[in-house]
Amino acid sequence: MTDWHCHLLPGIDDGPATMAEAVEMARALSQAGYTAVHCTPHLVKGTFEADNATVRTTLALLQAELVRQRIELLLLPGREYYLDEFLMEYLEKPLALGNERFLLIEISDQMPAEFVKETCYRIKCSGYVPMIAHPERCRHFEFHAPHNKGLRELFNIFNSKPKTQKSDLNEPSLLGYLKGIGCLFQGNLGSFAGIYGERVRQSAANLNSLKMYTHFGTDLHSTKGLGMLSGINMGEFISSSKKPNDEPLLKSESDQASETVRQFLDSQ
Ligand SMILES: [Fe+2]
Repeated sequence: MTDWHCHLLPGIDDGPATMAEAVEMARALSQAGYTAVHCTPHLVKGTFEADNATVRTTLALLQAELVRQRIELLLLPGREYYLDEFLMEYLEKPLALGNERFLLIEISDQMPAEFVKETCYRIKCSGYVPMIAHPERCRHFEFHAPHNKGLRELFNIFNSKPKTQKSDLNEPSLLGYLKGIGCLFQGNLGSFAGIYGERVRQSAANLNSLKMYTHFGTDLHSTKGLGMLSGINMGEFISSSKKPNDEPLLKSESDQASETVRQFLDSQ
């Protein structure tokens, strides 16, 4: 399995403070069946501003420590970019997820939907694909899925006029727009278990029922979150989602990552 969103690198953001804690988290991920982890520290102007070189160096140090301790887990670089007015400046030198041209993008409730659309469109035009981090945690993507509705009908609902005063936080067409321009959607496994509350759990279930998710991640920040690794079966969700163009999801990537880890360990 591949974890597409994880704060595993020590001393970069609000992830683990020490190498020892990062190693403990990595060991737990490996024991839970993960073979590859995208290390995605926050990049937020004024809060978490480590540069890409620091991310790569820290990743190499942690990977070397995992090899030394014979923990089979391939670490891949990445960032969790915060979508605001500074983002495009950071993306002049983007750090994409692993070998892909995917950029993990976090969208806050406060960001106007039109600005989100424009920014994601600009990213697409620059040759990268926005992967929306945990949309279930963002009120922009919250809706109540009626029973027995097909995807087409639900997109019609997204495009209908909002009915409440909260419409600026609940822009119904944003999800359809982002899906339409080819964005990817990454779900947090903890959302399905309700660790962010019932509202988020319900939103995750609704988005999953629409097969919106293309990737999943733990969004693990510390050893405190390790309990969820044993409580959630990622495969249960992976099997119900599809990548764009109906490519098989993750299994082949996981097999490939396993092989790469083996080669990496053998070469040491
Ligand atoms: Fe995160």
